[in-house]
Amino acid sequence: MTPGFGNLAFIVDDPFLILYLGHLTLRYSPGSACRSYSKGIIQIMHSLSATAEAHPNIAFIKYWGNRDNLLRLPTSGSISMNLGGLTTRTRVIINSSLEADRLKLNDRIVRGEGLRRVQSFLDVVRLQARTDLHAEVITENNFPSGAGIASSASAFAALAVAAARALGLDLSDRELSCLARRGSGSASRSIPAGFVEWIAGEGDADSYAVSIASPEHWNLVDCIAMVNANRKATGSTEGHASAGTSPLQAARVADAPRRLDWCRRALLTCDFTALAEIAELDSNLMHAIMMTSIPALMYWEPPTLEIMSLVRKWRAQGDPVFYTIDAGPNVHAITTSDFAQVITSRLRAIPGVREVITASPGGGAHLSNE
Ligand code: PMV
Repeated sequence: MTPGFGNLAFIVDDPFLILYLGHLTLRYSPGSACRSYSKGIIQIMHSLSATAEAHPNIAFIKYWGNRDNLLRLPTSGSISMNLGGLTTRTRVIINSSLEADRLKLNDRIVRGEGLRRVQSFLDVVRLQARTDLHAEVITENNFPSGAGIASSASAFAALAVAAARALGLDLSDRELSCLARRGSGSASRSIPAGFVEWIAGEGDADSYAVSIASPEHWNLVDCIAMVNANRKATGSTEGHASAGTSPLQAARVADAPRRLDWCRRALLTCDFTALAEIAELDSNLMHAIMMTSIPALMYWEPPTLEIMSLVRKWRAQGDPVFYTIDAGPNVHAITTSDFAQVITSRLRAIPGVREVITASPGGGAHLSNE
């Protein structure tokens, strides 16, 4: 057997030998070339565990619908802002004695669909790392999961960074964004910092997100009016798959370059009025697709409409504020830091609003000390 790059040939009697040398882990895999000895390969791995943090993001130009559901290649590009202060922290521990991956979210063991999605994602990382080792994933969110704050974005961004490192992959930000996209499309946008554009691209290797402005570029604040913090009935993976059944989706996709240009320009020039107009239009367009898909997806609840109408009224009166809504009933009211307090207290006073969470532009996904 010829050792490959980064491997050492050796002879050993213990077929499950693992040597820990500081941050290096030497893992023995039994070889088949010589039957009289246990001859094998030592894989040199850089770390057995890694922890990463990432923020969710709110899209001003939304992602809804895929050209390729497996690779999560979107029908059009999208633009978002990372939500600083709202954080997913994920630790990945590679454990050679595990026969399957394990997942713990906010101290509770996750089984079923949630675990399967993480396992399929780890399969993608394992394929790149050329290993079959399983992992224990321990993750925590400091905000409600699955309620219209894109917890899957921060979840898969943090998981991509931690799993890649734990399995010894040294990936660029572009590669990490492509990898995170495989778990959840919007996760590609939680890898870079600040204000971010996901370029739809042609295939797996060029569908990734880049930062178009740093978090300090603009003092926007997202005041999230929580109407219902329960997990939504139809998740976005199912929603993307049915987007093409709406007769309106083709027109929305064809018009996407115009909306992306409008939004990018508004962001780069800090033109609040222009951003407000395009972001509300884009959010309404996405919900029009959802409502006219088969099956129809209706995410709004009565307080959602009440907030939308009040936000428009406040803007008409001169306050810088607009709404945008993801796949849930909660409303993201975007304003500037000088108005955040007044908007937050007005939102809290609306019947049906349970809580208001605020977030300023956040940084990118990163490794953190364990
Ligand atoms: O990344 P997913 O599959 O959770 O899709 C996100 C979809 C929206 O949040 C509704 C829009 C967006 O661009 O974030």
